[in-house]
Amino acid sequence: MRHHSPKLSHFTADHIVGLSPQMLDLKETLLKVAPRNSNVLITGESGTGKELFARALHAASLRRAGPFVKINCAAIPDTLVESELFGYEEGAFTGCRKGGQVGKLELAHRGTVFLDEVAELSCAMQAKLLRFLQEREIQKLGSRRTIFVDVRIVAATNVNLEQMVKYKKFREDLFYRLNVINLHIPPLRERKEDIPLLVDAFIQKFNLSFRAGVNGVAPEVMTAFLHYPWPGNVRELENCLERAFNLVDEEKVIQPHHLPAHLYALAGENRLPGEKGFPGQVTAAFRQGKTLAQIMEQIEKTVVLQALAESKGNKAKAAQLLGISRPGLYKKLIKYNLM
Ligand SMILES: Nc1ncnc2c1ncn2[C@@H]1O[C@H](COP(=O)(O)OP(=O)(O)OP(=O)(O)O)[C@@H](O)[C@H]1O
Ligand SMILES: [Mg+2]
Repeated sequence: MRHHSPKLSHFTADHIVGLSPQMLDLKETLLKVAPRNSNVLITGESGTGKELFARALHAASLRRAGPFVKINCAAIPDTLVESELFGYEEGAFTGCRKGGQVGKLELAHRGTVFLDEVAELSCAMQAKLLRFLQEREIQKLGSRRTIFVDVRIVAATNVNLEQMVKYKKFREDLFYRLNVINLHIPPLRERKEDIPLLVDAFIQKFNLSFRAGVNGVAPEVMTAFLHYPWPGNVRELENCLERAFNLVDEEKVIQPHHLPAHLYALAGENRLPGEKGFPGQVTAAFRQGKTLAQIMEQIEKTVVLQALAESKGNKAKAAQLLGISRPGLYKKLIKYNLM
């Protein structure tokens, strides 16, 4: 995130926070495919940044001066999708607008169409979209004239489209047309190194927009963040910090009691040394039948995570804190599934 809040339409790859190997890879692919015109399917759980990637793709493309038009396939009633996409002529049906309506596809001429939640398209609309992708022409409702439209389609979904194809809920031919390039954004829990960076970026952003002077999060908060599974991904982290901004006190440091209770509780389940006191935690581990080796591993994992948190994801610094080599740190990240 930059030091100013960019307009939604101005998001670029630089606004995608993340230095995990997966994110670096994704950004590289994004910049490589952006100038081409191939359709892109962005997949990933809710809140992983699919729309952010779609906007960055447009901004890095040769179409950046053209429009970016978003169509949320889940938000438009099935009966209106067609006129929304293709538009209609005046008098096409009773109750239609005077002068007709220009469809979103036509509006996006020379730009990018972002088809959000594309899995929600009805069978009939899937067929119509496929025809458009083959012919690159639209016919407004109530019109005989066809109009050539030059758009790039970026589609997004948080459901497994391949599964839907298998169960015949989504057309296979349309799937292949949309999925020329696939960008899969992994969930936040699979790229924990990005968490400290995102926390910093959001604190900067909210400090600006709320004119607050929050200095950061307490170490226990960062530990909780690193253990929590983040089912709502980056959006949930962003919301959680926004909430904390409203509760923070004079000290200007976000504390555990500024977090939603469920977050702290859930994070605690995966944790060994913590606020309950170390001996108590060990006793609890014994009760679960954990051996010395297993307990040591869990402690090691916690210590590694803490080092990553304190070095803000900088692996060289984390290795230095831990007094181990970088390759040694990488081995541990792989061992504990923290890559
Ligand atoms: N890597 C990132 N860096 C900075 N901000 C991010 C990142 N990923 C997501 N965000 C922010 O998190 C929020 C959610 O992202 P976005 O709307 O793109 O997710 P989504 O995948 O489209 O979610 P959904 O499936 O629920 O529509 C946005 O405010 C976005 O700016
Ligand atoms: Mg979205």
